[in-house]
Amino acid sequence: MAGSPQSRYGADSATSNLSSRTSGTSFFSRNARSNTSDAPSSLYGSITTSSRGASSVSNRAANGNAIASVMRKTAQPNRAQFTPSSYPGITNLAIASQKAGYDSVAARNPDIQPTTQDRLQVQSRTVSDAQYKRFAQYIEEQSGIVLGDNKHYLVNSRLSSLLLRFKVATIDELINRAMQPNIYKDISSAVIDAMTTNETLWFRDTYPYLALKNIILPELARSGKTPVRIWSAACSSGQEPYSIAMIVQEQATTMVHVDPNQCQIIGTDISPEMLDRCRFAHYDNHALARGLSAERKARFFKPTKDPNVMRVDDKIKQMVTFKQMNLLGSYSLLGRFDVIFCRNVLIYFSNDVKSQILNKFSLCLNPGGYLILGSSESIQGLSDKYEMVRCNPGLAYRLKA
Ligand SMILES: C[S@@+](CC[C@H](N)C(=O)[O-])C[C@H]1O[C@@H](n2cnc3c(N)ncnc32)[C@H](O)[C@@H]1O
Repeated sequence: MAGSPQSRYGADSATSNLSSRTSGTSFFSRNARSNTSDAPSSLYGSITTSSRGASSVSNRAANGNAIASVMRKTAQPNRAQFTPSSYPGITNLAIASQKAGYDSVAARNPDIQPTTQDRLQVQSRTVSDAQYKRFAQYIEEQSGIVLGDNKHYLVNSRLSSLLLRFKVATIDELINRAMQPNIYKDISSAVIDAMTTNETLWFRDTYPYLALKNIILPELARSGKTPVRIWSAACSSGQEPYSIAMIVQEQATTMVHVDPNQCQIIGTDISPEMLDRCRFAHYDNHALARGLSAERKARFFKPTKDPNVMRVDDKIKQMVTFKQMNLLGSYSLLGRFDVIFCRNVLIYFSNDVKSQILNKFSLCLNPGGYLILGSSESIQGLSDKYEMVRCNPGLAYRLKA
């Protein structure tokens, strides 16, 4: 993840990449067709292995151990690095460990123990009042996330895990460094990443996917629009854009004129860690149990060597492209969309920022395009660019003519 404020805000060269799957055939081809088949140097600082040494890590990885499978041997014989970005084997435990911290990883795995030296490095896991105020302002400027006055505990818990990783003694010092992105690019990026909340699940709230299936896709089919472009803004670990892709695939089965090859789904998020997970597209049993029916699991996922982990089938995976993008930045390089899902992220922003984002979305929606927000989010008092459409259940917003 680029650490400078400018690059965090900018969309990159998305359009050329994102349009690469567009061919001349119609999204709603009448031809009968078959479905297209199917860290920085160390995240938690140096980690010693047991007396069994690094080779035991490799063996455990082969056996599918959740933590060992994301550890790599380093040049040092008895040390390993925990690097989720360099999968394979990112699992829910690893996901949890990143936010919860190195100590929780160690607690679960007797092979991973902080060295005495590592322990001594951490002197304070508590942010001071003065530093909290500076940090809250900084985070809002960088990501839009409003911390408010009393989230010291959140800052402490989210940033503690970074102290060992970056070998910084106190949270106040970590924040000092994070606020100098030109010097401490990795720290700055990791700190902002750590402050994001990535809760998500498959087919979250159900109604947006019913609206897509029953109202929006049929409407696009009638219009003959091609390609259909759908943006999952703030896509977290990928459940939202992959759920959208599954709906399109299901509709292709029941409506022969829907062609998944003519549907581009773009997932974006500020968090490079989440985007790694999206692209890897492996999900453990805990994640798979959240919102996914047995039928969809059987149809759209493939087993892996690890019995606790399944991967998204290629026919779904290839429908989605991922890009890092900060919603505070420009969207101009993403092109125009027929549908934007922006769910459960505006709640973290101020009304001013919400309003700016809603108005920027309106500029990259095609005429009659839809915006779908989270169930607790609304445009009321924030933007006059949309009309409300009742979908029964739920609602969506359509760009005004
Ligand atoms: C709670 S998750 C929502 C995921 C998904 N949309 C859903 O509803 O299940 C919020 C996501 O917003 C992302 N996020 C927070 N601030 C952002 C920003 N300024 N730009 C882009 N993404 C951001 C976070 O990284 C996180 O993955």
